[in-house]
Amino acid sequence: MKRGFFLTFEGLDGSGKSTQLRRLAAHLRNSGRPVREMRQPGGTGFGDKVRALLLAEKGQTAIAPRAELAMMFADRAQAIAEVIEPALEAGELLLCDRWTDSTEAYQGGGRALGAEVVHRLHAEVCGGLQPNLTVLLLPPLEVSLQRARRRNERVQAQTGRDESRFEAESEAFFRRSYAQYEAIAAREAVRVVVMKEDEPVELIHARIVRVVEDRLAGWTRPELQ
Ligand code: TYD
Repeated sequence: MKRGFFLTFEGLDGSGKSTQLRRLAAHLRNSGRPVREMRQPGGTGFGDKVRALLLAEKGQTAIAPRAELAMMFADRAQAIAEVIEPALEAGELLLCDRWTDSTEAYQGGGRALGAEVVHRLHAEVCGGLQPNLTVLLLPPLEVSLQRARRRNERVQAQTGRDESRFEAESEAFFRRSYAQYEAIAAREAVRVVVMKEDEPVELIHARIVRVVEDRLAGWTRPELQ
């Protein structure tokens, strides 16, 4: 059976990534292509527990950077075993909100652990499994920061909690993460399609659809490969 297609979305908090992923999934379903949706961290029973620990209220659980790094990979290894590998083997179209590029950007860049250790762990723990295509949303840093801050404030006002450890990180953290995402895009220009414009949701959606349809054509019609 033809192997599945693995598509990931990447970007900083507030980049509009999750909105665009939902829109793309709806577009694909409406055009008769069933998709399976996943997210990282999370997406399995084990992963949801890891997620809860990782995203706990700031200060509630002190996690050392390398412990955080290892947890991201523990979560991912479980996701591969339970969901991703079976789905790809069954020939499915799989959409995942974040993958190892997030670890390279946030732990490698943001936490300054460096890209090398992320690559080594990815090779060992994930067998180097990379998406067929990655859509990286990278609008100007200020735009993401502002949206993420507003979202954090909204959640805080509604629940009284400062929900996301990551959204509460310093601007310098996100600047390093942003730079690492740029390095990924420069290094992997075929797998990673980067969108840097700050434009209306509809316009970016239309662009993503064009890119994805183009890549999927080669997958659904192997004679084009
Ligand atoms: P989430 O609420 O899913 O954020 P978003 O909707 O913006 O994707 O939280 C995921 C957070 O975890 C996000 O701030 C990025 C962070 N993260 C890492 O630091 N490393 C990783 O490897 C992954 C997958 C996520």
